[in-house]
Amino acid sequence: MTILIKNGTIITAIDSYQADLLIENQKIAMVGTNIKYDPDQIINAEGKYILPGALDAHVHLEMPFGGTISADSYEAGTRAAACGGVTTVFDFVMQNKGQGLMEAIKGREELCAPQACVDYGFHVAITDLSDDVIRELEDAVEYGVPSFKTFMAYKKSGLMVDDGVLAYLLEKSKDIGALISVHAENADITERRVEKYLSEGKTSAWYHYKSRPEFVEAEADKRIIHLAKSLDAPVYIVHLANKEGMEEVTKARDEGYEIYAETCPHYLHFTNEVYKRDDGRNYVCSPPIKGKESQDSLWEGIKKGDISVIATDHCPFQSGEKDWGIDDFSKIPNGCMGVENLYPYMLSEANQGRISFNKVVELCSTNPAQIFGCADRKGTIVPNIDADLVIYDPQKKFTITQEKMHSDIDHTIWEGVELDGYPIMTLSRGRVVYQDGEFLGEAGWGNFVKRSLKR
Ligand code: URP
Ligand code: ZN
Ligand code: ZN
Ligand code: ZN
Repeated sequence: MTILIKNGTIITAIDSYQADLLIENQKIAMVGTNIKYDPDQIINAEGKYILPGALDAHVHLEMPFGGTISADSYEAGTRAAACGGVTTVFDFVMQNKGQGLMEAIKGREELCAPQACVDYGFHVAITDLSDDVIRELEDAVEYGVPSFKTFMAYKKSGLMVDDGVLAYLLEKSKDIGALISVHAENADITERRVEKYLSEGKTSAWYHYKSRPEFVEAEADKRIIHLAKSLDAPVYIVHLANKEGMEEVTKARDEGYEIYAETCPHYLHFTNEVYKRDDGRNYVCSPPIKGKESQDSLWEGIKKGDISVIATDHCPFQSGEKDWGIDDFSKIPNGCMGVENLYPYMLSEANQGRISFNKVVELCSTNPAQIFGCADRKGTIVPNIDADLVIYDPQKKFTITQEKMHSDIDHTIWEGVELDGYPIMTLSRGRVVYQDGEFLGEAGWGNFVKRSLKR
């Protein structure tokens, strides 16, 4: 199947230009003006932008968490991804206590492969660093899973690793070609504050925020950055959401350290005021959404180049599950939806002039591909790269509503948000998987993306 996309404006992280684009054998075969070729299909993209598909580096699909399982299956989550212009997702494999890393990875791969509608990779979250697991770290790297996630939060539920484990993994990662990513929040402070608020009868969603406010996240950011600097190891901080942490990242990067920070669209769009709403529980995620000063600092970090990736932390739960916390915020499963909103939201911000389209491509596609080791196949528009593409109509107005979304979730925190411009087509390795509001893909189409960080 060959496709020729004609007359569009191609946008990469560094360039915007008018050209035709030829797709052959699932790859971009040629980019140039007036390509002479007789393809199976011609797409006229006049007045439209052609972007590399987004890589959502942070999703949790059908993940056991918060006393239930996150509500999008691999199929529903990757279907929603396709419809939002995300052509690769990186999902989190959670190691159970005592479980081997390869057993954990292969178990999830078995579940994911027949369902995936777009390509997928894995990070593996280490929760139990035994001697056997230490021996398996290199096996995971060789298998194409060279990124290990650690939690400084969630002590009570057993996900947290201590500072000794963090320091060990940072140091080890340099030798084996891995990257350590960190959920940074101080678990001890959080858990004591939760108990205190509940004992005082302060049970609303606002106290989810109050139990883990700005300084609780910042302390952990500073701790992990200090460890990474001291050990001269790269580190990737997931879902950064506070100003002090942002400033520490900027400082470390200005000093020349390889510190990456990711933030999410919900931290860029909402403030902690949402936790005062009647449906505040639907916005409960960790770290919680912070105040306006933090939000402004994240946008500042984007402009300075100190936020490297925007990803979603897509980890939705149905309304009925969020309702478990109506009278006790600590019972609300933590996490929100976003995989279908990432690219449309960020591109709309570009369309409104807040940042450039090139910057959005850098943050949502090129950087995650480079940082996580698949830039030879993903993240830009040049010949021989996978034909993962989004055609974007900058004129189209779109109001987000749950009915128009493609995941299995019965609500969206993005309800009513108005966007300028919207994706009208997504191609996954040269196959049209989404067009004009309709999912056209297929479960099982997505391939495992084997990654390597060996330099
Ligand atoms: O609230 C969140 N973010 N839930 C998903 C798990 C995590 O911490 O990333
Ligand atoms: Zn997290
Ligand atoms: Zn800087
Ligand atoms: Zn997460």
